[in-house]
Amino acid sequence: MSFNMGPLTPVTDVGIGAMELYFPQNYIDQADLEKYNKVSSGKYTIGLGQQQMGFCADNEDIVSISMTVTRNLLETYEILTDSIGCLVVGTETLIDKSKSVKTALMDLFPGNSDIEGVDIKNACFGGAQALLHAIDWVTVNHQMDNKNAIVVIADIAIYEDGPARCTGGAGAIAFLICPDAAIPIDRQFAACHMKNTWDFFKPISSTSSEYPVVDGSLSLASYLEAVRMTYTHFMEKLVRHGNKDVSIESFDALFFHSPFTKMVQKGLAVMHYTDAVLRGEKLNGVDTETKLDENDRASLAKMIELSTLVWKNKTDPYLIFNRRIGNMYTPSLFAQLLAYLASDNCTTEGDKNVLFFAYGSGLASAVFPGRVRRSSSNLEKLREVALSAIKRLDQRHRFTAEEFTETLKLRETFLHSNEFPRIPNGTVLFPNTFCLTSMDELYRRKYAITECEVVNGNGVHS
Ligand code: ACO
Repeated sequence: MSFNMGPLTPVTDVGIGAMELYFPQNYIDQADLEKYNKVSSGKYTIGLGQQQMGFCADNEDIVSISMTVTRNLLETYEILTDSIGCLVVGTETLIDKSKSVKTALMDLFPGNSDIEGVDIKNACFGGAQALLHAIDWVTVNHQMDNKNAIVVIADIAIYEDGPARCTGGAGAIAFLICPDAAIPIDRQFAACHMKNTWDFFKPISSTSSEYPVVDGSLSLASYLEAVRMTYTHFMEKLVRHGNKDVSIESFDALFFHSPFTKMVQKGLAVMHYTDAVLRGEKLNGVDTETKLDENDRASLAKMIELSTLVWKNKTDPYLIFNRRIGNMYTPSLFAQLLAYLASDNCTTEGDKNVLFFAYGSGLASAVFPGRVRRSSSNLEKLREVALSAIKRLDQRHRFTAEEFTETLKLRETFLHSNEFPRIPNGTVLFPNTFCLTSMDELYRRKYAITECEVVNGNGVHS
């Protein structure tokens, strides 16, 4: 037996048609954390390039932040729930070893159970993989029933007390993936570097923990190796398919996974240098035949110096969410796209070419290009959403490093109990945010949505 699909029109420009960002209303200042942790002044703010760090109390978890951002996407862009045929979640923040976050999101699609997709996990890379899967799904399936896909990428990044704690954060992004998109992704040019490493992982052990095991220096070296390898594979692929003149100069903006923004600057420096090596070009008089090595501090410093202009023009201006929220894991890379959409650089004449570098420890990494289509009717709405997200950064509440530490202790306690979340004094939720309200003896969780800003878990003011 063979199935007849009828005449189908191929779709083009599949990519991001709509986008929303959620981040918690609680944050701490990195300068306060430097004092609290008794490290030298400037270590987190200058050394790592971080200004602030967002955090969630124990009434927010991966399901609640994913529900919040998905609902916001559906409402803001007036997306009909029965127009969705695929929903993929990328996250490394697991609260269950079997049940996916995606299944919980089905509550937001009443009457439409024909939605393919589950969760994809590999550290910070699961978000990029979820995006690429959804693009594939739309490319193959959209012609059949005119259905689109949603991608939800979300994480709560927290570390045990120690040198990595300052590199936490939390956030969630939802994308609508459709044909004729405002930001098509040219996913056929995606090039990967995949390798078995133990730089950052979350083993199943006798005691549950939300904290990863981290080999800090291996994770930094693995990230830079991944930049060099993915960019090399990407350029080789382009050349193989007749695109000989593409270089880093061909892109208006370059986005990187951001554990902290200083890491991004190093990543960009390695990409910029690799570009020159591949093209056999001199860089500001430096002969690239005399190899610089990203693992050597002096060489890396030289690469950073050589890439100063590219950093200033194509990457640094778009790190606002990364500097002020911290590492959101899967959304960290894509928050730069949103910042770019808000920028004046995005409004000048002509379509824009952008490049994404995705990295997830363990390790999985990829480089892929996208385009911002100035002619797209959705671009103005996307810009509005981006500008409003930037404004929201100033509507957050600042907490002390002591209060942040107390909150993380409460999350630890909650994880080892099945009690009602004990929200620490003063932590807050934006209006229209889902929160965890209870957990029963089988660890089944319940959620509710706040209508106004919520303080102390129950006192409500608008
Ligand atoms: N003023 C200015 N700069 C300073 C100061 C100061 N007072 N003090 C230190 N610095 C600089 C250091 O020179 C260093 O910069 P450099 O390496 O560019 O020279 C930087 O601040 C950090 O200082 P370190 O001593 O190297 O920091 P530490 O070893 O304590 O921790 C680390 C840093 C390894 C990144 C840690 O935060 C960590 O393990 N984080 C989690 C892992 C991570 O984010 N990995 C990245 C990729 S994987 C992922 O996305 C999770």
